[in-house]
Amino acid sequence: MYRTHTCGELRISHAGINVTLAGWVQTIRKFGSITFVDLRDRYGITQLLFGEELNQQLESNPLGREYVIQVSGTVNERSSKNANIPTGAIEIAVQSFVILNKSAVPPFTIQDETDGGDDLRMKYRFLDLRRNTVKRNIELRYAVNRAARNFLHANGFMDIETPFLIKSTPEGARDFVVPSRMNPGQFYALPQSPQTFKQLLMVSGYDRYYQVVKCFRDEDLRADRQPEFTQIDCEMAFVEQEDILNMFEGMIKSIFKEVKGIDYTETVERMTWEDAMWQYGNDKPDIRFGMEICNLKFPAHTFPSKSGYEQLINGVDFKVFDEAETVVAIAVPGCSEYTRKQTDELTEWVKRPQIGMKGLVFIKCNEDGTFKSSVDKFYSEEKLKAIADVSGAKSGDLILILAGTEERTRKAMSELRLDLGERLGLRKKDEFKLLWVLDFPLFEYAEEENRWVARHHPFTSPKPSQIETMIQNNPVIEDAANYLKHPYANIKANAYDMVLNGNEIGGGSIRIYQRELQEKMFLALGMDAEEQQHKFGFLLGAFEYGAPPHGGIAFGFDRLCALMGGSESIRDFIAFPKNNSGRDVMLDAPSSIDQKQLDELQIRLHLK
Ligand code: AMO
Repeated sequence: MYRTHTCGELRISHAGINVTLAGWVQTIRKFGSITFVDLRDRYGITQLLFGEELNQQLESNPLGREYVIQVSGTVNERSSKNANIPTGAIEIAVQSFVILNKSAVPPFTIQDETDGGDDLRMKYRFLDLRRNTVKRNIELRYAVNRAARNFLHANGFMDIETPFLIKSTPEGARDFVVPSRMNPGQFYALPQSPQTFKQLLMVSGYDRYYQVVKCFRDEDLRADRQPEFTQIDCEMAFVEQEDILNMFEGMIKSIFKEVKGIDYTETVERMTWEDAMWQYGNDKPDIRFGMEICNLKFPAHTFPSKSGYEQLINGVDFKVFDEAETVVAIAVPGCSEYTRKQTDELTEWVKRPQIGMKGLVFIKCNEDGTFKSSVDKFYSEEKLKAIADVSGAKSGDLILILAGTEERTRKAMSELRLDLGERLGLRKKDEFKLLWVLDFPLFEYAEEENRWVARHHPFTSPKPSQIETMIQNNPVIEDAANYLKHPYANIKANAYDMVLNGNEIGGGSIRIYQRELQEKMFLALGMDAEEQQHKFGFLLGAFEYGAPPHGGIAFGFDRLCALMGGSESIRDFIAFPKNNSGRDVMLDAPSSIDQKQLDELQIRLHLK
């Protein structure tokens, strides 16, 4: 037997008993004729005391960091206790030890605070995984996985595996492709998601499906994106949007309860996509704090049902506002006393190429009820007060105003709001705020191709009341500059996203389940009958054999774990992640393959 206990298990109540432990040497501290060793395993750290006698053995058989050893000895109460660790009250008076395996000197210290940089830790990920901080993330991931499965199982969902070698039908991102040796010149694709399979399972009658499943997307990477990532993928038949929202709100709440002990009792807020864009400039708003956008001016066709406060900024010959398509404001609480240096810094911030604005206008709403602004020359105190009133600013607040083209300005304001939220400490990592964003547009305009693409995916159904608009209008966009005036721009989908603290953690939709409508949808996306048959003939065919109404959702499992763990970087929550260039630096993948493999695949490389 290698061990009687783990390194995280022993307490003062074990004092006096003989134990055997096995683990890794974390630290070695020599004090004259005695040596202390911290022994680590997955469960914790236990202090070992090598007394005088054993010290001699240590001299001929020295230990090193990360050596794997087995020790036997007695559990003793420590004279100086360490209250920071659960085993801190005891130590093992070692009677014998065996070196099970030596270790090379690790390239970085394997402790909570490590001296290893990102690249080094990725290269030696198997060592990084020994660190407590990383281990806690992997444990959390397992807990989330378990909680999701428990909930889904309890609600009658069945885990059904779907294939990884499938047909290439790019949905949004590029496909990763795999050559087929048995079918020379032909390729499989790795699934971007099991979307069509889960819909086929609904046709097959498995009316509650789920899978914790790998998805593969060849897209540009960011902190919250990996080329292979995991979804909690779900689908239900005989449901409406409301059923799905209720079910999966329940799942997320149950995960919060089981994993974090958090009772998320309030109903998850709901917001239409249009309101999200209007109030936050963003389809995944962080609603942990207010600072909502006040729309002073905007092009009417972007939000036909809304009106702004253009009259307040008109008529003073201030060209920046007069010439702008969009003027938006936020009221930053308690910041009216920002110095010139601070407002200059904010101006520089919005001028950075990533944000791309030409400047920033500010109005200080002083505590004494007066106003001071960067546009005093143009706006009277009265006008400034009126702007402050509609912006929801109170005395003591700082109003920030951006002006420019609609899309860029709205996006910039969204970024500025988030940045200020961060600076003011309003985005607390331990506060969790869920939100459903509903009624997304069905289509999105693809500028390079001057055509419509599916905003979610081509299987998403339009709002029933707008099906006619889709069918009756020609999808062709005659006037590219005014694409927003095309009737398709206003068609909304039965699609929903779940947002957690400003991050999209899940998305889904009610699906099209009739062949005719699916064909119309493909047509709207510029796919003729032949292409439809080639790419999605299997699905169109299946819809002829009794497809039930159905819908579903997929959660970004990695993202959910990262956010629950207080981070926005999903890499830390994946055992073996890729770096930002999509490389596995530990394996050194991707890599070239042997000529023999290429020959078998009948592939000749012709790199440009
Ligand atoms: P969607 O593409 O919105 O929907 O993906 C669902 C969720 O997966 C997460 N996600 C990612 N996580 C890490 N890295 C990535 N590259 C990445 N891409 C997406 C997000 C996202 O909300 N088949 C549909 C779901 C459905 O309609 O049921 C789908 O895949 O958190």
